[in-house]
Amino acid sequence: MPKPLSDIGLVGLAVMGQNLALNIADHGFQISVYNRTTETMEKFVAENPNTPGGVVGAKTLEEFVQSLSRPRKVIILVKAGGPTDAVINSLLPLLDAGDIVIDGGNALWTDTIRREKDLAAKGFRFVGSGVSGGEEGARFGPSLMPGGDPSSYEEIKAIWQAIAAKVDAVTGKPLMGATPGHPVEGGVPCTTYIGPNGAGHYVKMVHNAIEYGDMQMICESYDILRQLGGFTPAELSEIFGTWNKGKLDSFLIEITTDILQQKDPETGAPFVDIVLDAAGQKGTGKWTSVNALDMGVPAPTVAEAVFARCLSAVKEERVAASKQLTGPTVALSADKAQLVQAVHDALYCSKICSYAQGFQLMSAAQIEYKWSLDFGDIAKIWRGGCIIRAAFLQKITEAYTLNPKLANLLLDPFFQAEIDAAQANWRQVIALAATNGIPAPTFYSALSYYDGYRAATVPANLLQAQRDYFGAHTYERTDKPRGEAYHLDWPEPGRPQSKV
Ligand code: 6PG
Repeated sequence: MPKPLSDIGLVGLAVMGQNLALNIADHGFQISVYNRTTETMEKFVAENPNTPGGVVGAKTLEEFVQSLSRPRKVIILVKAGGPTDAVINSLLPLLDAGDIVIDGGNALWTDTIRREKDLAAKGFRFVGSGVSGGEEGARFGPSLMPGGDPSSYEEIKAIWQAIAAKVDAVTGKPLMGATPGHPVEGGVPCTTYIGPNGAGHYVKMVHNAIEYGDMQMICESYDILRQLGGFTPAELSEIFGTWNKGKLDSFLIEITTDILQQKDPETGAPFVDIVLDAAGQKGTGKWTSVNALDMGVPAPTVAEAVFARCLSAVKEERVAASKQLTGPTVALSADKAQLVQAVHDALYCSKICSYAQGFQLMSAAQIEYKWSLDFGDIAKIWRGGCIIRAAFLQKITEAYTLNPKLANLLLDPFFQAEIDAAQANWRQVIALAATNGIPAPTFYSALSYYDGYRAATVPANLLQAQRDYFGAHTYERTDKPRGEAYHLDWPEPGRPQSKV
């Protein structure tokens, strides 16, 4: 028998919405569901008659809202942007003060800040919660990044903690094995209160940017190994499989291992060779890169990952250019085992730099938006459920536990020692890529970031002199306190330099 009122409601029964609803119902919460197309809702309810919590269908938004216990909690899982605003606008006249609207999509954090402010002024509460883990994660345990008024998190906390992925309390490793109706028991939930208004969606966006970086770095590793090592996709699958048992143990390496051994069902060719090399994107990597530029935070590796997708997308132009532009001929490496180890190390070091940039971004954003982010906690909730889940995240948690005010992940003793040990190989791979004409933008960019960050002097002295020369933009002096502006009365360009 269904309870008279549901614990929570969900609007938007696309795959993510359906899976999240079933995850909630599996954990004993009764959930009401509404979808613009009623048949989708009816089919979903009919197909899931016996969940532990129960799924209740509603044909109208009025019926949906009336079926919820107070304060009402409504999850919206529709397309980011206009569609989200449209659903919020139709819900508000039906809700009461104190009710909570939760946006589980990949919303732009500034939209979330705007919506939270707008709803708060009308007496409602708004939560922007990042949900990561794709369809499988939504069904059996995502990583959840909720932001909003702390009182609203208290209201949804029990549900969020129940449905989130779980990791082992000691090792931090994901606890897997949930099946329909049988969630994983125990463990530490991959969710925590992130901060006010848009904090949750901001952190989810940075998660996605790191995801872009991880994916591109894996692709560069694959490409270098394939071109310089001459490995087949099946052999590469074995290599990635081995890496997945070590420091690089992660969901993205695991799925790469699977992908590389997959054959195309139609032709029998390696599946990876059938897929066109033109990448798509929905925007979270771009948002992060634009925001990095806006805040003046160096996050070049993430941006390179976005640009690599853009360059891949101009397939026809590249094909034409390949017939005209020249480069070196690729020479196979003599020592394949050494190459594999070197690429492993290049991937590992580049990954550390990319995560360092992601955390630098969050660190700047918390000042900009007056949040107080807990980086140790953020790394903790990324250990399971999400797309970037990796053994590595445990080390980031440990780094921020050791020093919550860590200025940059690169300065943590563990990561410093790791890069010290692996950087010779990293540099060798980049030299090999350059010598052989293989693009590796995130590898190159990560190394330049590392070398730039550790450089006490960079050539910006010359740059400032140039700016002062042509635009009187002033410069600071090495022999005077910071903040004092100087300008030299430069001779006109082309005029002889005075001898003084
Ligand atoms: C996740 C994913 C998810 C989605 C990305 C894909 O955390 O579950 O990041 O949010 O798969 O939006 O983004 P692109 O289409 O831009 O690659």
